[in-house]
Amino acid sequence: MEALADTDSRPEPIDLSHLYSKVTTNRSTSSVKDFYKYFTIPGIGNLAGGLPNNNYFPFDTLEAAAALPQRFTPTPNKPVDPPSDLLSKTTLSDGLSSSRVVVPKISENEDILRKIDLKTALQYGTAQGYPPLYSFLRQFTTENLHPNVPYAGGPEIILTCGATDGFCKAIDALSNTWNEDRDWIGHREGLLVEEFCYMNAIQAAKPRGLNIVPVAIDDEGMVAHGKGGLFDVLDHWDKSRGKRPHMIYTVTIGQNPTSGTLSVQRRKDIYAVCVKYDVVIIEDDPYWFLQYPSAKESSLYRRGQPAVNAHSDQSNLDRPKLQKSSGYPFLDSLVPSYLSVDYQGRVVRLDTFSKTVAPGCRLGWITTQPNLCERLLRITETSTQQPSGFVQSMISELIMGPHDPKHGRGGGKSDGGWQVDGWVRWLQGLRGNYERRMQTMCSILEEGKELVKSGRRKSIDNEWSVIDKVTLFDFIWPLGGMFVWLVPSDPSCFVVLGLTLVRVHLNFPSHPLWNKTTPAKLAQGLWVHLTSKKYLVLVAPGAIFAPTDEIRAKRSWAYFRICFAAVDEPDVEKMSRRFVNGVKDFWGKKSLDDIEEMGTRGLEASEGLVDLIGGC
Ligand SMILES: Cc1ncc(COP(=O)(O)O)c(C=O)c1O
Repeated sequence: MEALADTDSRPEPIDLSHLYSKVTTNRSTSSVKDFYKYFTIPGIGNLAGGLPNNNYFPFDTLEAAAALPQRFTPTPNKPVDPPSDLLSKTTLSDGLSSSRVVVPKISENEDILRKIDLKTALQYGTAQGYPPLYSFLRQFTTENLHPNVPYAGGPEIILTCGATDGFCKAIDALSNTWNEDRDWIGHREGLLVEEFCYMNAIQAAKPRGLNIVPVAIDDEGMVAHGKGGLFDVLDHWDKSRGKRPHMIYTVTIGQNPTSGTLSVQRRKDIYAVCVKYDVVIIEDDPYWFLQYPSAKESSLYRRGQPAVNAHSDQSNLDRPKLQKSSGYPFLDSLVPSYLSVDYQGRVVRLDTFSKTVAPGCRLGWITTQPNLCERLLRITETSTQQPSGFVQSMISELIMGPHDPKHGRGGGKSDGGWQVDGWVRWLQGLRGNYERRMQTMCSILEEGKELVKSGRRKSIDNEWSVIDKVTLFDFIWPLGGMFVWLVPSDPSCFVVLGLTLVRVHLNFPSHPLWNKTTPAKLAQGLWVHLTSKKYLVLVAPGAIFAPTDEIRAKRSWAYFRICFAAVDEPDVEKMSRRFVNGVKDFWGKKSLDDIEEMGTRGLEASEGLVDLIGGC
């Protein structure tokens, strides 16, 4: 390890300890961890630890039928021009064939990095994570996911109970709580966020007294320069509001709710501003592997515009030349994490199994520079301690498989575990199916975004038949994630809908009642109208993604988010059509009474929706 560090010419990560919270600084090294090494001395009789006896655990094995990694058909890593049949079906699957995964009660393996059994997994363990899973994920993260982190020694990881848990621990490490009744305003710290963002993070940060500071976004995501961009906000910081913020919370791929995907160049621009103002970037990337190379070309093709560069990797996202390959064309084709430009070690990346296995796993990991990771370990030791042993052992066995086939069974055809190849293949299959869903929804939105009305118009000596075309909404084909968010050419005009997000903007000014009521009531009226018996679709109103009261009041009414991930396969098409028909019919509404009444109901309901879907 030391020899490696000697030859590592990359810069050392900077010391971030001046940004640690008081509580985090005060945490001493846990003596429990030092003690654990004595447990592993062969033959030692443990009369010291207060551990329950494993023979009294009621589980003799843990068993499951689990998919083979090839279950779903991938989509190409490069754009296809024109979009082929491969993209025209919602889901492609080789059927439900599966393998049986078994975690045994006891494995005789002496190597704790390969030993997967209930005796160890259900016992108190190390806060870093269950050793076999920790070692697998650490290697996968540093060698396959992020092989080009530019600081010496590379990052460290720690397992979490999902991205939500990771975020809470990150802000716990990096910010002090502030209380209006007790503390001086000059001590108030801040969190920079996208101007529409994932509200669960805001709901975790706000009660700590943090200033929630929105930064302007465009189609990609957070803007570095220009009015309301990161530099503008930090450079013109008004100290009467508190300290200049030192943390960003950002979702960079398939942003929730706007579906934006941040280019490498934008990451570099944002990072440079963070270096200047000493800001830490908390990158929450649950949709990272859901990047859709077909989106850009499909949108140009459907709109009758020439292809940009159909056969290059996502050219518009300005991928850097790879110094080191991940070993997998799929992973190499993805826009890399902020970690790839993090030469100072100021990025805290959150990963999760919620979108790759299931949200109920409550399993994820943080990747960051080793010193900060050590502080996160201290926080974990006195909070969650570690993710559930049931989940950690099951995922370990599924992917890694048993060291010896006599002790347990892994996933895959040979029972030996999916291994890295299988895990990457699984991610590719998931991307494939979500990409096909995105194609299905966006194709229907594309066909349905205009209302065509025919009529007759008189001139002095003639009568003409005329066709009026009104664009009801516009949207951006998402380059990643689960959402569609509708984008206005004039932001005051449209509503955005995002879903493993599609962004949709509604052209409310073209509605016959536009000048007769408030925009917010009109938008809420549409929201309720879509839930009526004829259409039965529930979309997420923009208000639930507004990080401040000002954005909520002024602009959030103009946006909806629609998600192509949650409904069953045949429903993606059906629901998308119902949405389009519902919008079209709403433009036929002439009575103000209807709209006002629905608008009031919509307002009440959308407040409840924040609580209902706040976590997703
Ligand atoms: C941006 C974002 N972060 C975090 C989460 C939740 O992640 P986890 O289940 O790992 O806590 C979600 C869920 O929708 C999300 O969209």
